Amino acid sequence: MQTIGRIGGGNDRGGSRGRFGKDSSRRELRGGAGASRGGDQARTSSGGRGGGNPAAGRNPVANRNPGGNPFKSSRQPLRDPDFYDEDYTDERDTTEVPGGERLQKVLAQAGVASRRACEEMIGDGRVTVDGQVVRRFGARVDPVKQVIHVDGKRIPTSSELVYYALNKPIGVVSTMDDPDGRPCLQDFVQDLAPRLFHVGRLDTETEGLLLFTNDGELAHRLTHPSYGVRKKYWAKVPGPVPRDLHRVLRKGIELEDGLAKVDEFHIVQEHGQQALVEVVLHEGRKHIVRRLLESSGHRVIDLARIEFGPVKLGRLKPGTVRTLTLQEVGDLYAAVGL
Ligand code: URA
Repeated sequence: MQTIGRIGGGNDRGGSRGRFGKDSSRRELRGGAGASRGGDQARTSSGGRGGGNPAAGRNPVANRNPGGNPFKSSRQPLRDPDFYDEDYTDERDTTEVPGGERLQKVLAQAGVASRRACEEMIGDGRVTVDGQVVRRFGARVDPVKQVIHVDGKRIPTSSELVYYALNKPIGVVSTMDDPDGRPCLQDFVQDLAPRLFHVGRLDTETEGLLLFTNDGELAHRLTHPSYGVRKKYWAKVPGPVPRDLHRVLRKGIELEDGLAKVDEFHIVQEHGQQALVEVVLHEGRKHIVRRLLESSGHRVIDLARIEFGPVKLGRLKPGTVRTLTLQEVGDLYAAVGL
């Protein structure tokens, strides 16, 4: 009889590989080899999501400054490089940072596309800096302080900010340091960047996806209950599982620290005495999945987190770290309104 095997990582069912885990972005960093952001991130597609009002770039009516104040608007006609010196600064644009870096260079370095393609995106009005569409040729920006979006998606442009995913193995405590000398998170990320912190925790006996970053605002929002970021878990439980369990869990179960409910629940597989169930919820109370399932009569045998918001664990093997792709970081920002 077929049995239900490992549930965390290296498993084809962990999500669609095409959407998240290009091999180029995955790094085998057992015990912490060095890594740097930027060059190894997947390139984002230039099309797609709305936002940044790309239509405004092509529509002369939409391009008109509704307030009538030319000094406050960046919606200007594209400057013809044949008539304007490369160093020409358009004083009407409040996003210009004299002495800053060229916008197309910043975008290309972040992994958006080639410089040439980034220039086209800028000319097409697909790029915003601090909320203003910037279309002029040779715009200069501060990649650390300014917020840049392409097609409405935030681009991490500061080379100081890093974003990683770890498949935390069973038996590793979710702290950077363990006074008792047990394996801890630091063992996997110590050489990646200074002041890196983990986004939330997993039980020592839970394996799966744990994010790391030094982007404090993003980490804060991803863990704050008010942003309701959804997490997906796979749990191995004794079978059979009643077909109406999803109703009970969606309605909620009163635990010792209050009502807890799932956003989604379904049975992935059932083989004789064991079942694999999927639980999606957006809260982060301690042992929440184990307590919820146990209160409904289903002791958890194994537990793995396979998704955190838009980021999927996929085939990342336990104990390995990969850099998040540009797309994933943009999706994380979007998930928490940044
Ligand atoms: N819920 C649990 O019970 N354990 C975890 O590690 C995460 C969520």
